Amino acid sequence: MQINIFNEQNTIFNRFVAEIRDVSIQTDPMRFRRNLERMGEIFAYEISKTLPYKKTEVKTPLGIAEESLPENNVVVASILRAGLPLHQGLLNYFDRADNAFVSAYRKYTEDGDFDIHIEYISSPSLDNRMVILSDPMLASGNSMDLAYKALLHRGRPSHVHLVAIIASKEGLEYVKETLKDEPVTLWIGALDDELNAKSYIVPGLGDAGDLAFGTKL
Ligand code: URA
Repeated sequence: MQINIFNEQNTIFNRFVAEIRDVSIQTDPMRFRRNLERMGEIFAYEISKTLPYKKTEVKTPLGIAEESLPENNVVVASILRAGLPLHQGLLNYFDRADNAFVSAYRKYTEDGDFDIHIEYISSPSLDNRMVILSDPMLASGNSMDLAYKALLHRGRPSHVHLVAIIASKEGLEYVKETLKDEPVTLWIGALDDELNAKSYIVPGLGDAGDLAFGTKL
């Protein structure tokens, strides 16, 4: 499995990661969502370098230009609800893509443990499609793994790009192991050391869904 970790390089992407982590900037939910979206755009640009391209003629007012264009075969898929701003950023660049959504939530037991439940899938056929599946936080890796496997009920993609803005080392190892035989590339913005007892990433940023959309019951 190929793994790309963006903050191993010095780029402007790191500014956006710093802002979404920063408690003093997190008070502005519009900026939080917009930063996730901007990072989705950068992921889309980097992923676009790995796609198959075809020479295509374009008629201009003055002649014919030959452009090398990516095949229009992309499905952008996201895990609800925290994935929505990142999804929008990916879609800003892959603006001809079809879309898929999977809901995943933590169902807590009385002793504070939880299972991830997948309840809703909306997806086109994924047979031979190039799928980009995004979730801003790759914590234990469970949601990404379950969402991936749930989407396989809608067909066998040719390749899946898994995108997370912040991943824990544990989550990365989990996904590497559970999806090791799958046609997958992993794109991570920043890799953090730990998960706390509630499976939140440390230092992480807190709850991405709440920061983007407000607290929930
Ligand atoms: N989901 C979040 O929003 N944050 C985490 O740290 C882990 C999962």
